Amino acid sequence: AETASREQLHQQMNQLSALLKVSATFRANAPLEQVLGAICSAISSALGYRLVELSLLDSETDLMIPTGWAGFAPEERRRLRTIRRQPGFYDVVMQPRFRISNSYFISHRDNPETELGTQWAFLPDIDDSTRSEDEWHQNDALAVPLQDRDGKLIGMIYVDDPRDRRLPSVEQVQVLELFAQQAAMAAENATLLGELQKSEAKYRLLTETASDMIFMLEPDGTFAFVSSSTEAILGYEPAELLGVAFSKLLSPTTAHTAPAYLVNPEGAHEREGRCEAELVRADGGLAVVEIDSAPVFENGRFRGEQGIARDISEKKRMQREITRRQRQVRRSQKREEQLSSYTATVLAAQEDERKRIARDLHDDTAQALIALSRRIEALREHLHASPETAEPLIDDLKELTDQTISSVRRFSRDLRPSLLDDLGLVAALEWLVAENARRHKITTRMKVHGQERRLPSEVELTCFRIAQEALNNTAKHAEATGAAVELYFGPNGCRLSVSDNGRGFQSGAVGPDLAHAGRMGVMGMHERAGLLGGTLTVRGTPGEGTKVTATIPLGDG
Ligand SMILES: Nc1ncnc2c1ncn2[C@@H]1O[C@H](COP(=O)(O)OP(=O)(O)OP(=O)(O)O)[C@@H](O)[C@H]1O
Ligand SMILES: [Mg+2]
Repeated sequence: AETASREQLHQQMNQLSALLKVSATFRANAPLEQVLGAICSAISSALGYRLVELSLLDSETDLMIPTGWAGFAPEERRRLRTIRRQPGFYDVVMQPRFRISNSYFISHRDNPETELGTQWAFLPDIDDSTRSEDEWHQNDALAVPLQDRDGKLIGMIYVDDPRDRRLPSVEQVQVLELFAQQAAMAAENATLLGELQKSEAKYRLLTETASDMIFMLEPDGTFAFVSSSTEAILGYEPAELLGVAFSKLLSPTTAHTAPAYLVNPEGAHEREGRCEAELVRADGGLAVVEIDSAPVFENGRFRGEQGIARDISEKKRMQREITRRQRQVRRSQKREEQLSSYTATVLAAQEDERKRIARDLHDDTAQALIALSRRIEALREHLHASPETAEPLIDDLKELTDQTISSVRRFSRDLRPSLLDDLGLVAALEWLVAENARRHKITTRMKVHGQERRLPSEVELTCFRIAQEALNNTAKHAEATGAAVELYFGPNGCRLSVSDNGRGFQSGAVGPDLAHAGRMGVMGMHERAGLLGGTLTVRGTPGEGTKVTATIPLGDG
């Protein structure tokens, strides 16, 4: 009997190893319930139990849920699926007095019906009429715990109704426990796999929905992974970049400043950091990115560099825009300052001008009129006394009157040349040029280009005043021997330039400094041109001369 049973066991072991192989292949990719079902069937056929049920502990609800089975009829299977066992149930099952090997055999004699009865109830009744005392009884049960690597209970296998009706031997239980180990491993793997998949899905979701580019570099600096957001930032599909060196993306300007941990990770002393880089997009444009990166080690070995590149092109553009606007504001503030100091000086100048006019009227015109009045008195006396001597007095009177008239004319022409209104800009400039040549002994030329015509009166006046001031300056400061006035009539505007061959203008000495110093000429020319939407430039070359150019636009019509 001994050899027979040993032989039987041997046979079962062979069967078992074959089945274990089958279940191992299942474990690789079959769903857990299928693997557990296969293990239950293997137990049934290898060890001869008609009914096998396998429950797993659900870590969330702490309930044991039937997950694999063999030998149950369809309607019994339906009931099986509804069973949920409380953890307290196992305290009753797993009592030292039931223990065989690491399992528990609950004999019908010990079976605490009241506690286990309802839980056991699903096991269908077996025909017992012919059984003896030392045979398997319908209320006997064998429970084999499933434990994880740390020995924690994660499930239970129940077997019932052995075909040979024998009570379980230690060897048989140990074989069963081998199956239980397989099942426990399968369950544990499935849990781990599930968690892995969950975290992988989370990770994938993160990398795929992140707007930043997530990447991994091989130790040699080529891309091992790039997230799909790369496309939005660089215009490359992730697959296009795999195997490409990170350094290939760098723009020429950042190529030499990029940190070594990104260009040649394995050769770098430092492998962690933050930097800014300019990358060349697929379309040739540039993307400014901020990169945070850190090394990846696996079992102590350097496996590469992983990082996040954030597109900061927009931020950079905005920063540039802000600086540009700030500069604009500063410029216009400065201009306002200049303008207000200019206005103040202009007001003072106007006041001076009035004083000068008052003085001139008083000193010249009024004196001349007083003189005339006196001579008329004298003439009257002569007419009474000796009318024949009056003739030269009348000549004298006429001459003085003519002189006064021309001095008043000159005076008013200085204030505003009537020439300008009557004959236009070209004639007025010609007069100005002739005056300049005559008064200051400077050879002055005048040239007109383009289609000569009358311009709006404020444009003509502005050009005239600018030419007047520029020629005054030439006379006052340039020590020039020659000057030229050129006027160009264009379709959309006119351009006036006054140049001399004098000592040249010290550029740099312009703006508010001059205004403060009471030097109004150049400022005034700028202002006049600016008021009409035009521009004015003063270019002086030391020793070669100065050229003032005013460009005034003309509206259509
Ligand atoms: N044609 C020029 N050649 C050399 N220096 C010049 C010439 N024009 C102007 N400058 C220099 O630029 C300075 C500023 O000229 P600006 O006309 O503003 O003032 P100003 O002639 O000295 O005084 P104001 O015109 O108010 O009577 C002058 O003082 C002079 O030093
Ligand atoms: Mg001047």
